[in-house]
Amino acid sequence: METGVKLTKLASCAGCGAKVGAGTLASMLEGFRTHKDPRLLVGYDKSDDACVYQLDESTALVQTTDFFPPIVDDPFLYGQIAAANALSDVYAMGGEPRLALNILCLPEQMEEDTVRELLRGGYDKVYEAGAVIAGGHTIHGAEPIYGLAVTGFVDPRRMLTNSAARPGDALILTKPLGIGVLTTAAKADLVPEPVLRRIHRQMAALNRATRDVMVRHDVHSCTDVTGFGLLGHSLEMAQGSGCTLRIRTADVPFHPEAWELADMGFLPAGAYRNRDYAECGVEAGAVSRTMQDLLYDPQTSGGLLLALPMEEAADCLRELRAAAPEAAFIGCVTERGENWIVLE
Ligand code: CO
Ligand code: CO
Ligand code: CO
Repeated sequence: METGVKLTKLASCAGCGAKVGAGTLASMLEGFRTHKDPRLLVGYDKSDDACVYQLDESTALVQTTDFFPPIVDDPFLYGQIAAANALSDVYAMGGEPRLALNILCLPEQMEEDTVRELLRGGYDKVYEAGAVIAGGHTIHGAEPIYGLAVTGFVDPRRMLTNSAARPGDALILTKPLGIGVLTTAAKADLVPEPVLRRIHRQMAALNRATRDVMVRHDVHSCTDVTGFGLLGHSLEMAQGSGCTLRIRTADVPFHPEAWELADMGFLPAGAYRNRDYAECGVEAGAVSRTMQDLLYDPQTSGGLLLALPMEEAADCLRELRAAAPEAAFIGCVTERGENWIVLE
């Protein structure tokens, strides 16, 4: 659906590229008083995708929220992408989403039909996920914002944190990179229609099938690759796990059209923030600046990054490819070395 006012023109930065830098948040929260609750298995201090709260031996709540300004002009697609992105954090913990709440901010000039299409996109994805939208909250504001707060469940004995990778694990990434670069260039009409359709399909795709494959294997650790880019999220996994991640850049899947655009300097602001945050933990060796830029590129509704035993990895990858055809081995986990991440 095309609308009078271009949705992305109402937004100052697009999708997960609007995310506040990881370092900024951590330092702002320092020194606050909080209760200690042993049932909170994963909390804010873990920088994981979602929090996990134990209910009984075999059941834990998984809660998360994600929302952002329009990343595309089609309101239905925007709704789908924002919902898929929010649901993804539950999948990244190995959980299943059950309930969702709409989070919506609307500028006065947004037409009713546009808002309806946006919400229809969100409902469409939540339905596909097998979950229910149970309510929400809407306010007026200068820029449109949409997303969800999501509640799901996971067996706490089988939950997947981003801090449990082990030396000897293989790393798999399930969706190609370059979304931030391509959506930034799309604002200047520099991305051909077929490429746009491809990245739109990718962003709207749930990580549900990927999660279903993942929980059938002995995966040690998982996170979804979103606003902090592959290297930002890899750094969290490396530090949380106390290991070094070695990434073979030649094997990292990315949209080939993003290369030339990144080379020309079409980088979202988030790519620079991600570099500032993660760079000191990354040994880049002889890897080109353009490749590095793609590795720092913020993804919206990106794929999952999995760490699992080498012996399981080939089987898992074969099954993953039915759901995520571009899933690939991108490296391995080693004992902690001088740097958290080594690019080769
Ligand atoms: Co996440
Ligand atoms: Co998130
Ligand atoms: Co996780």
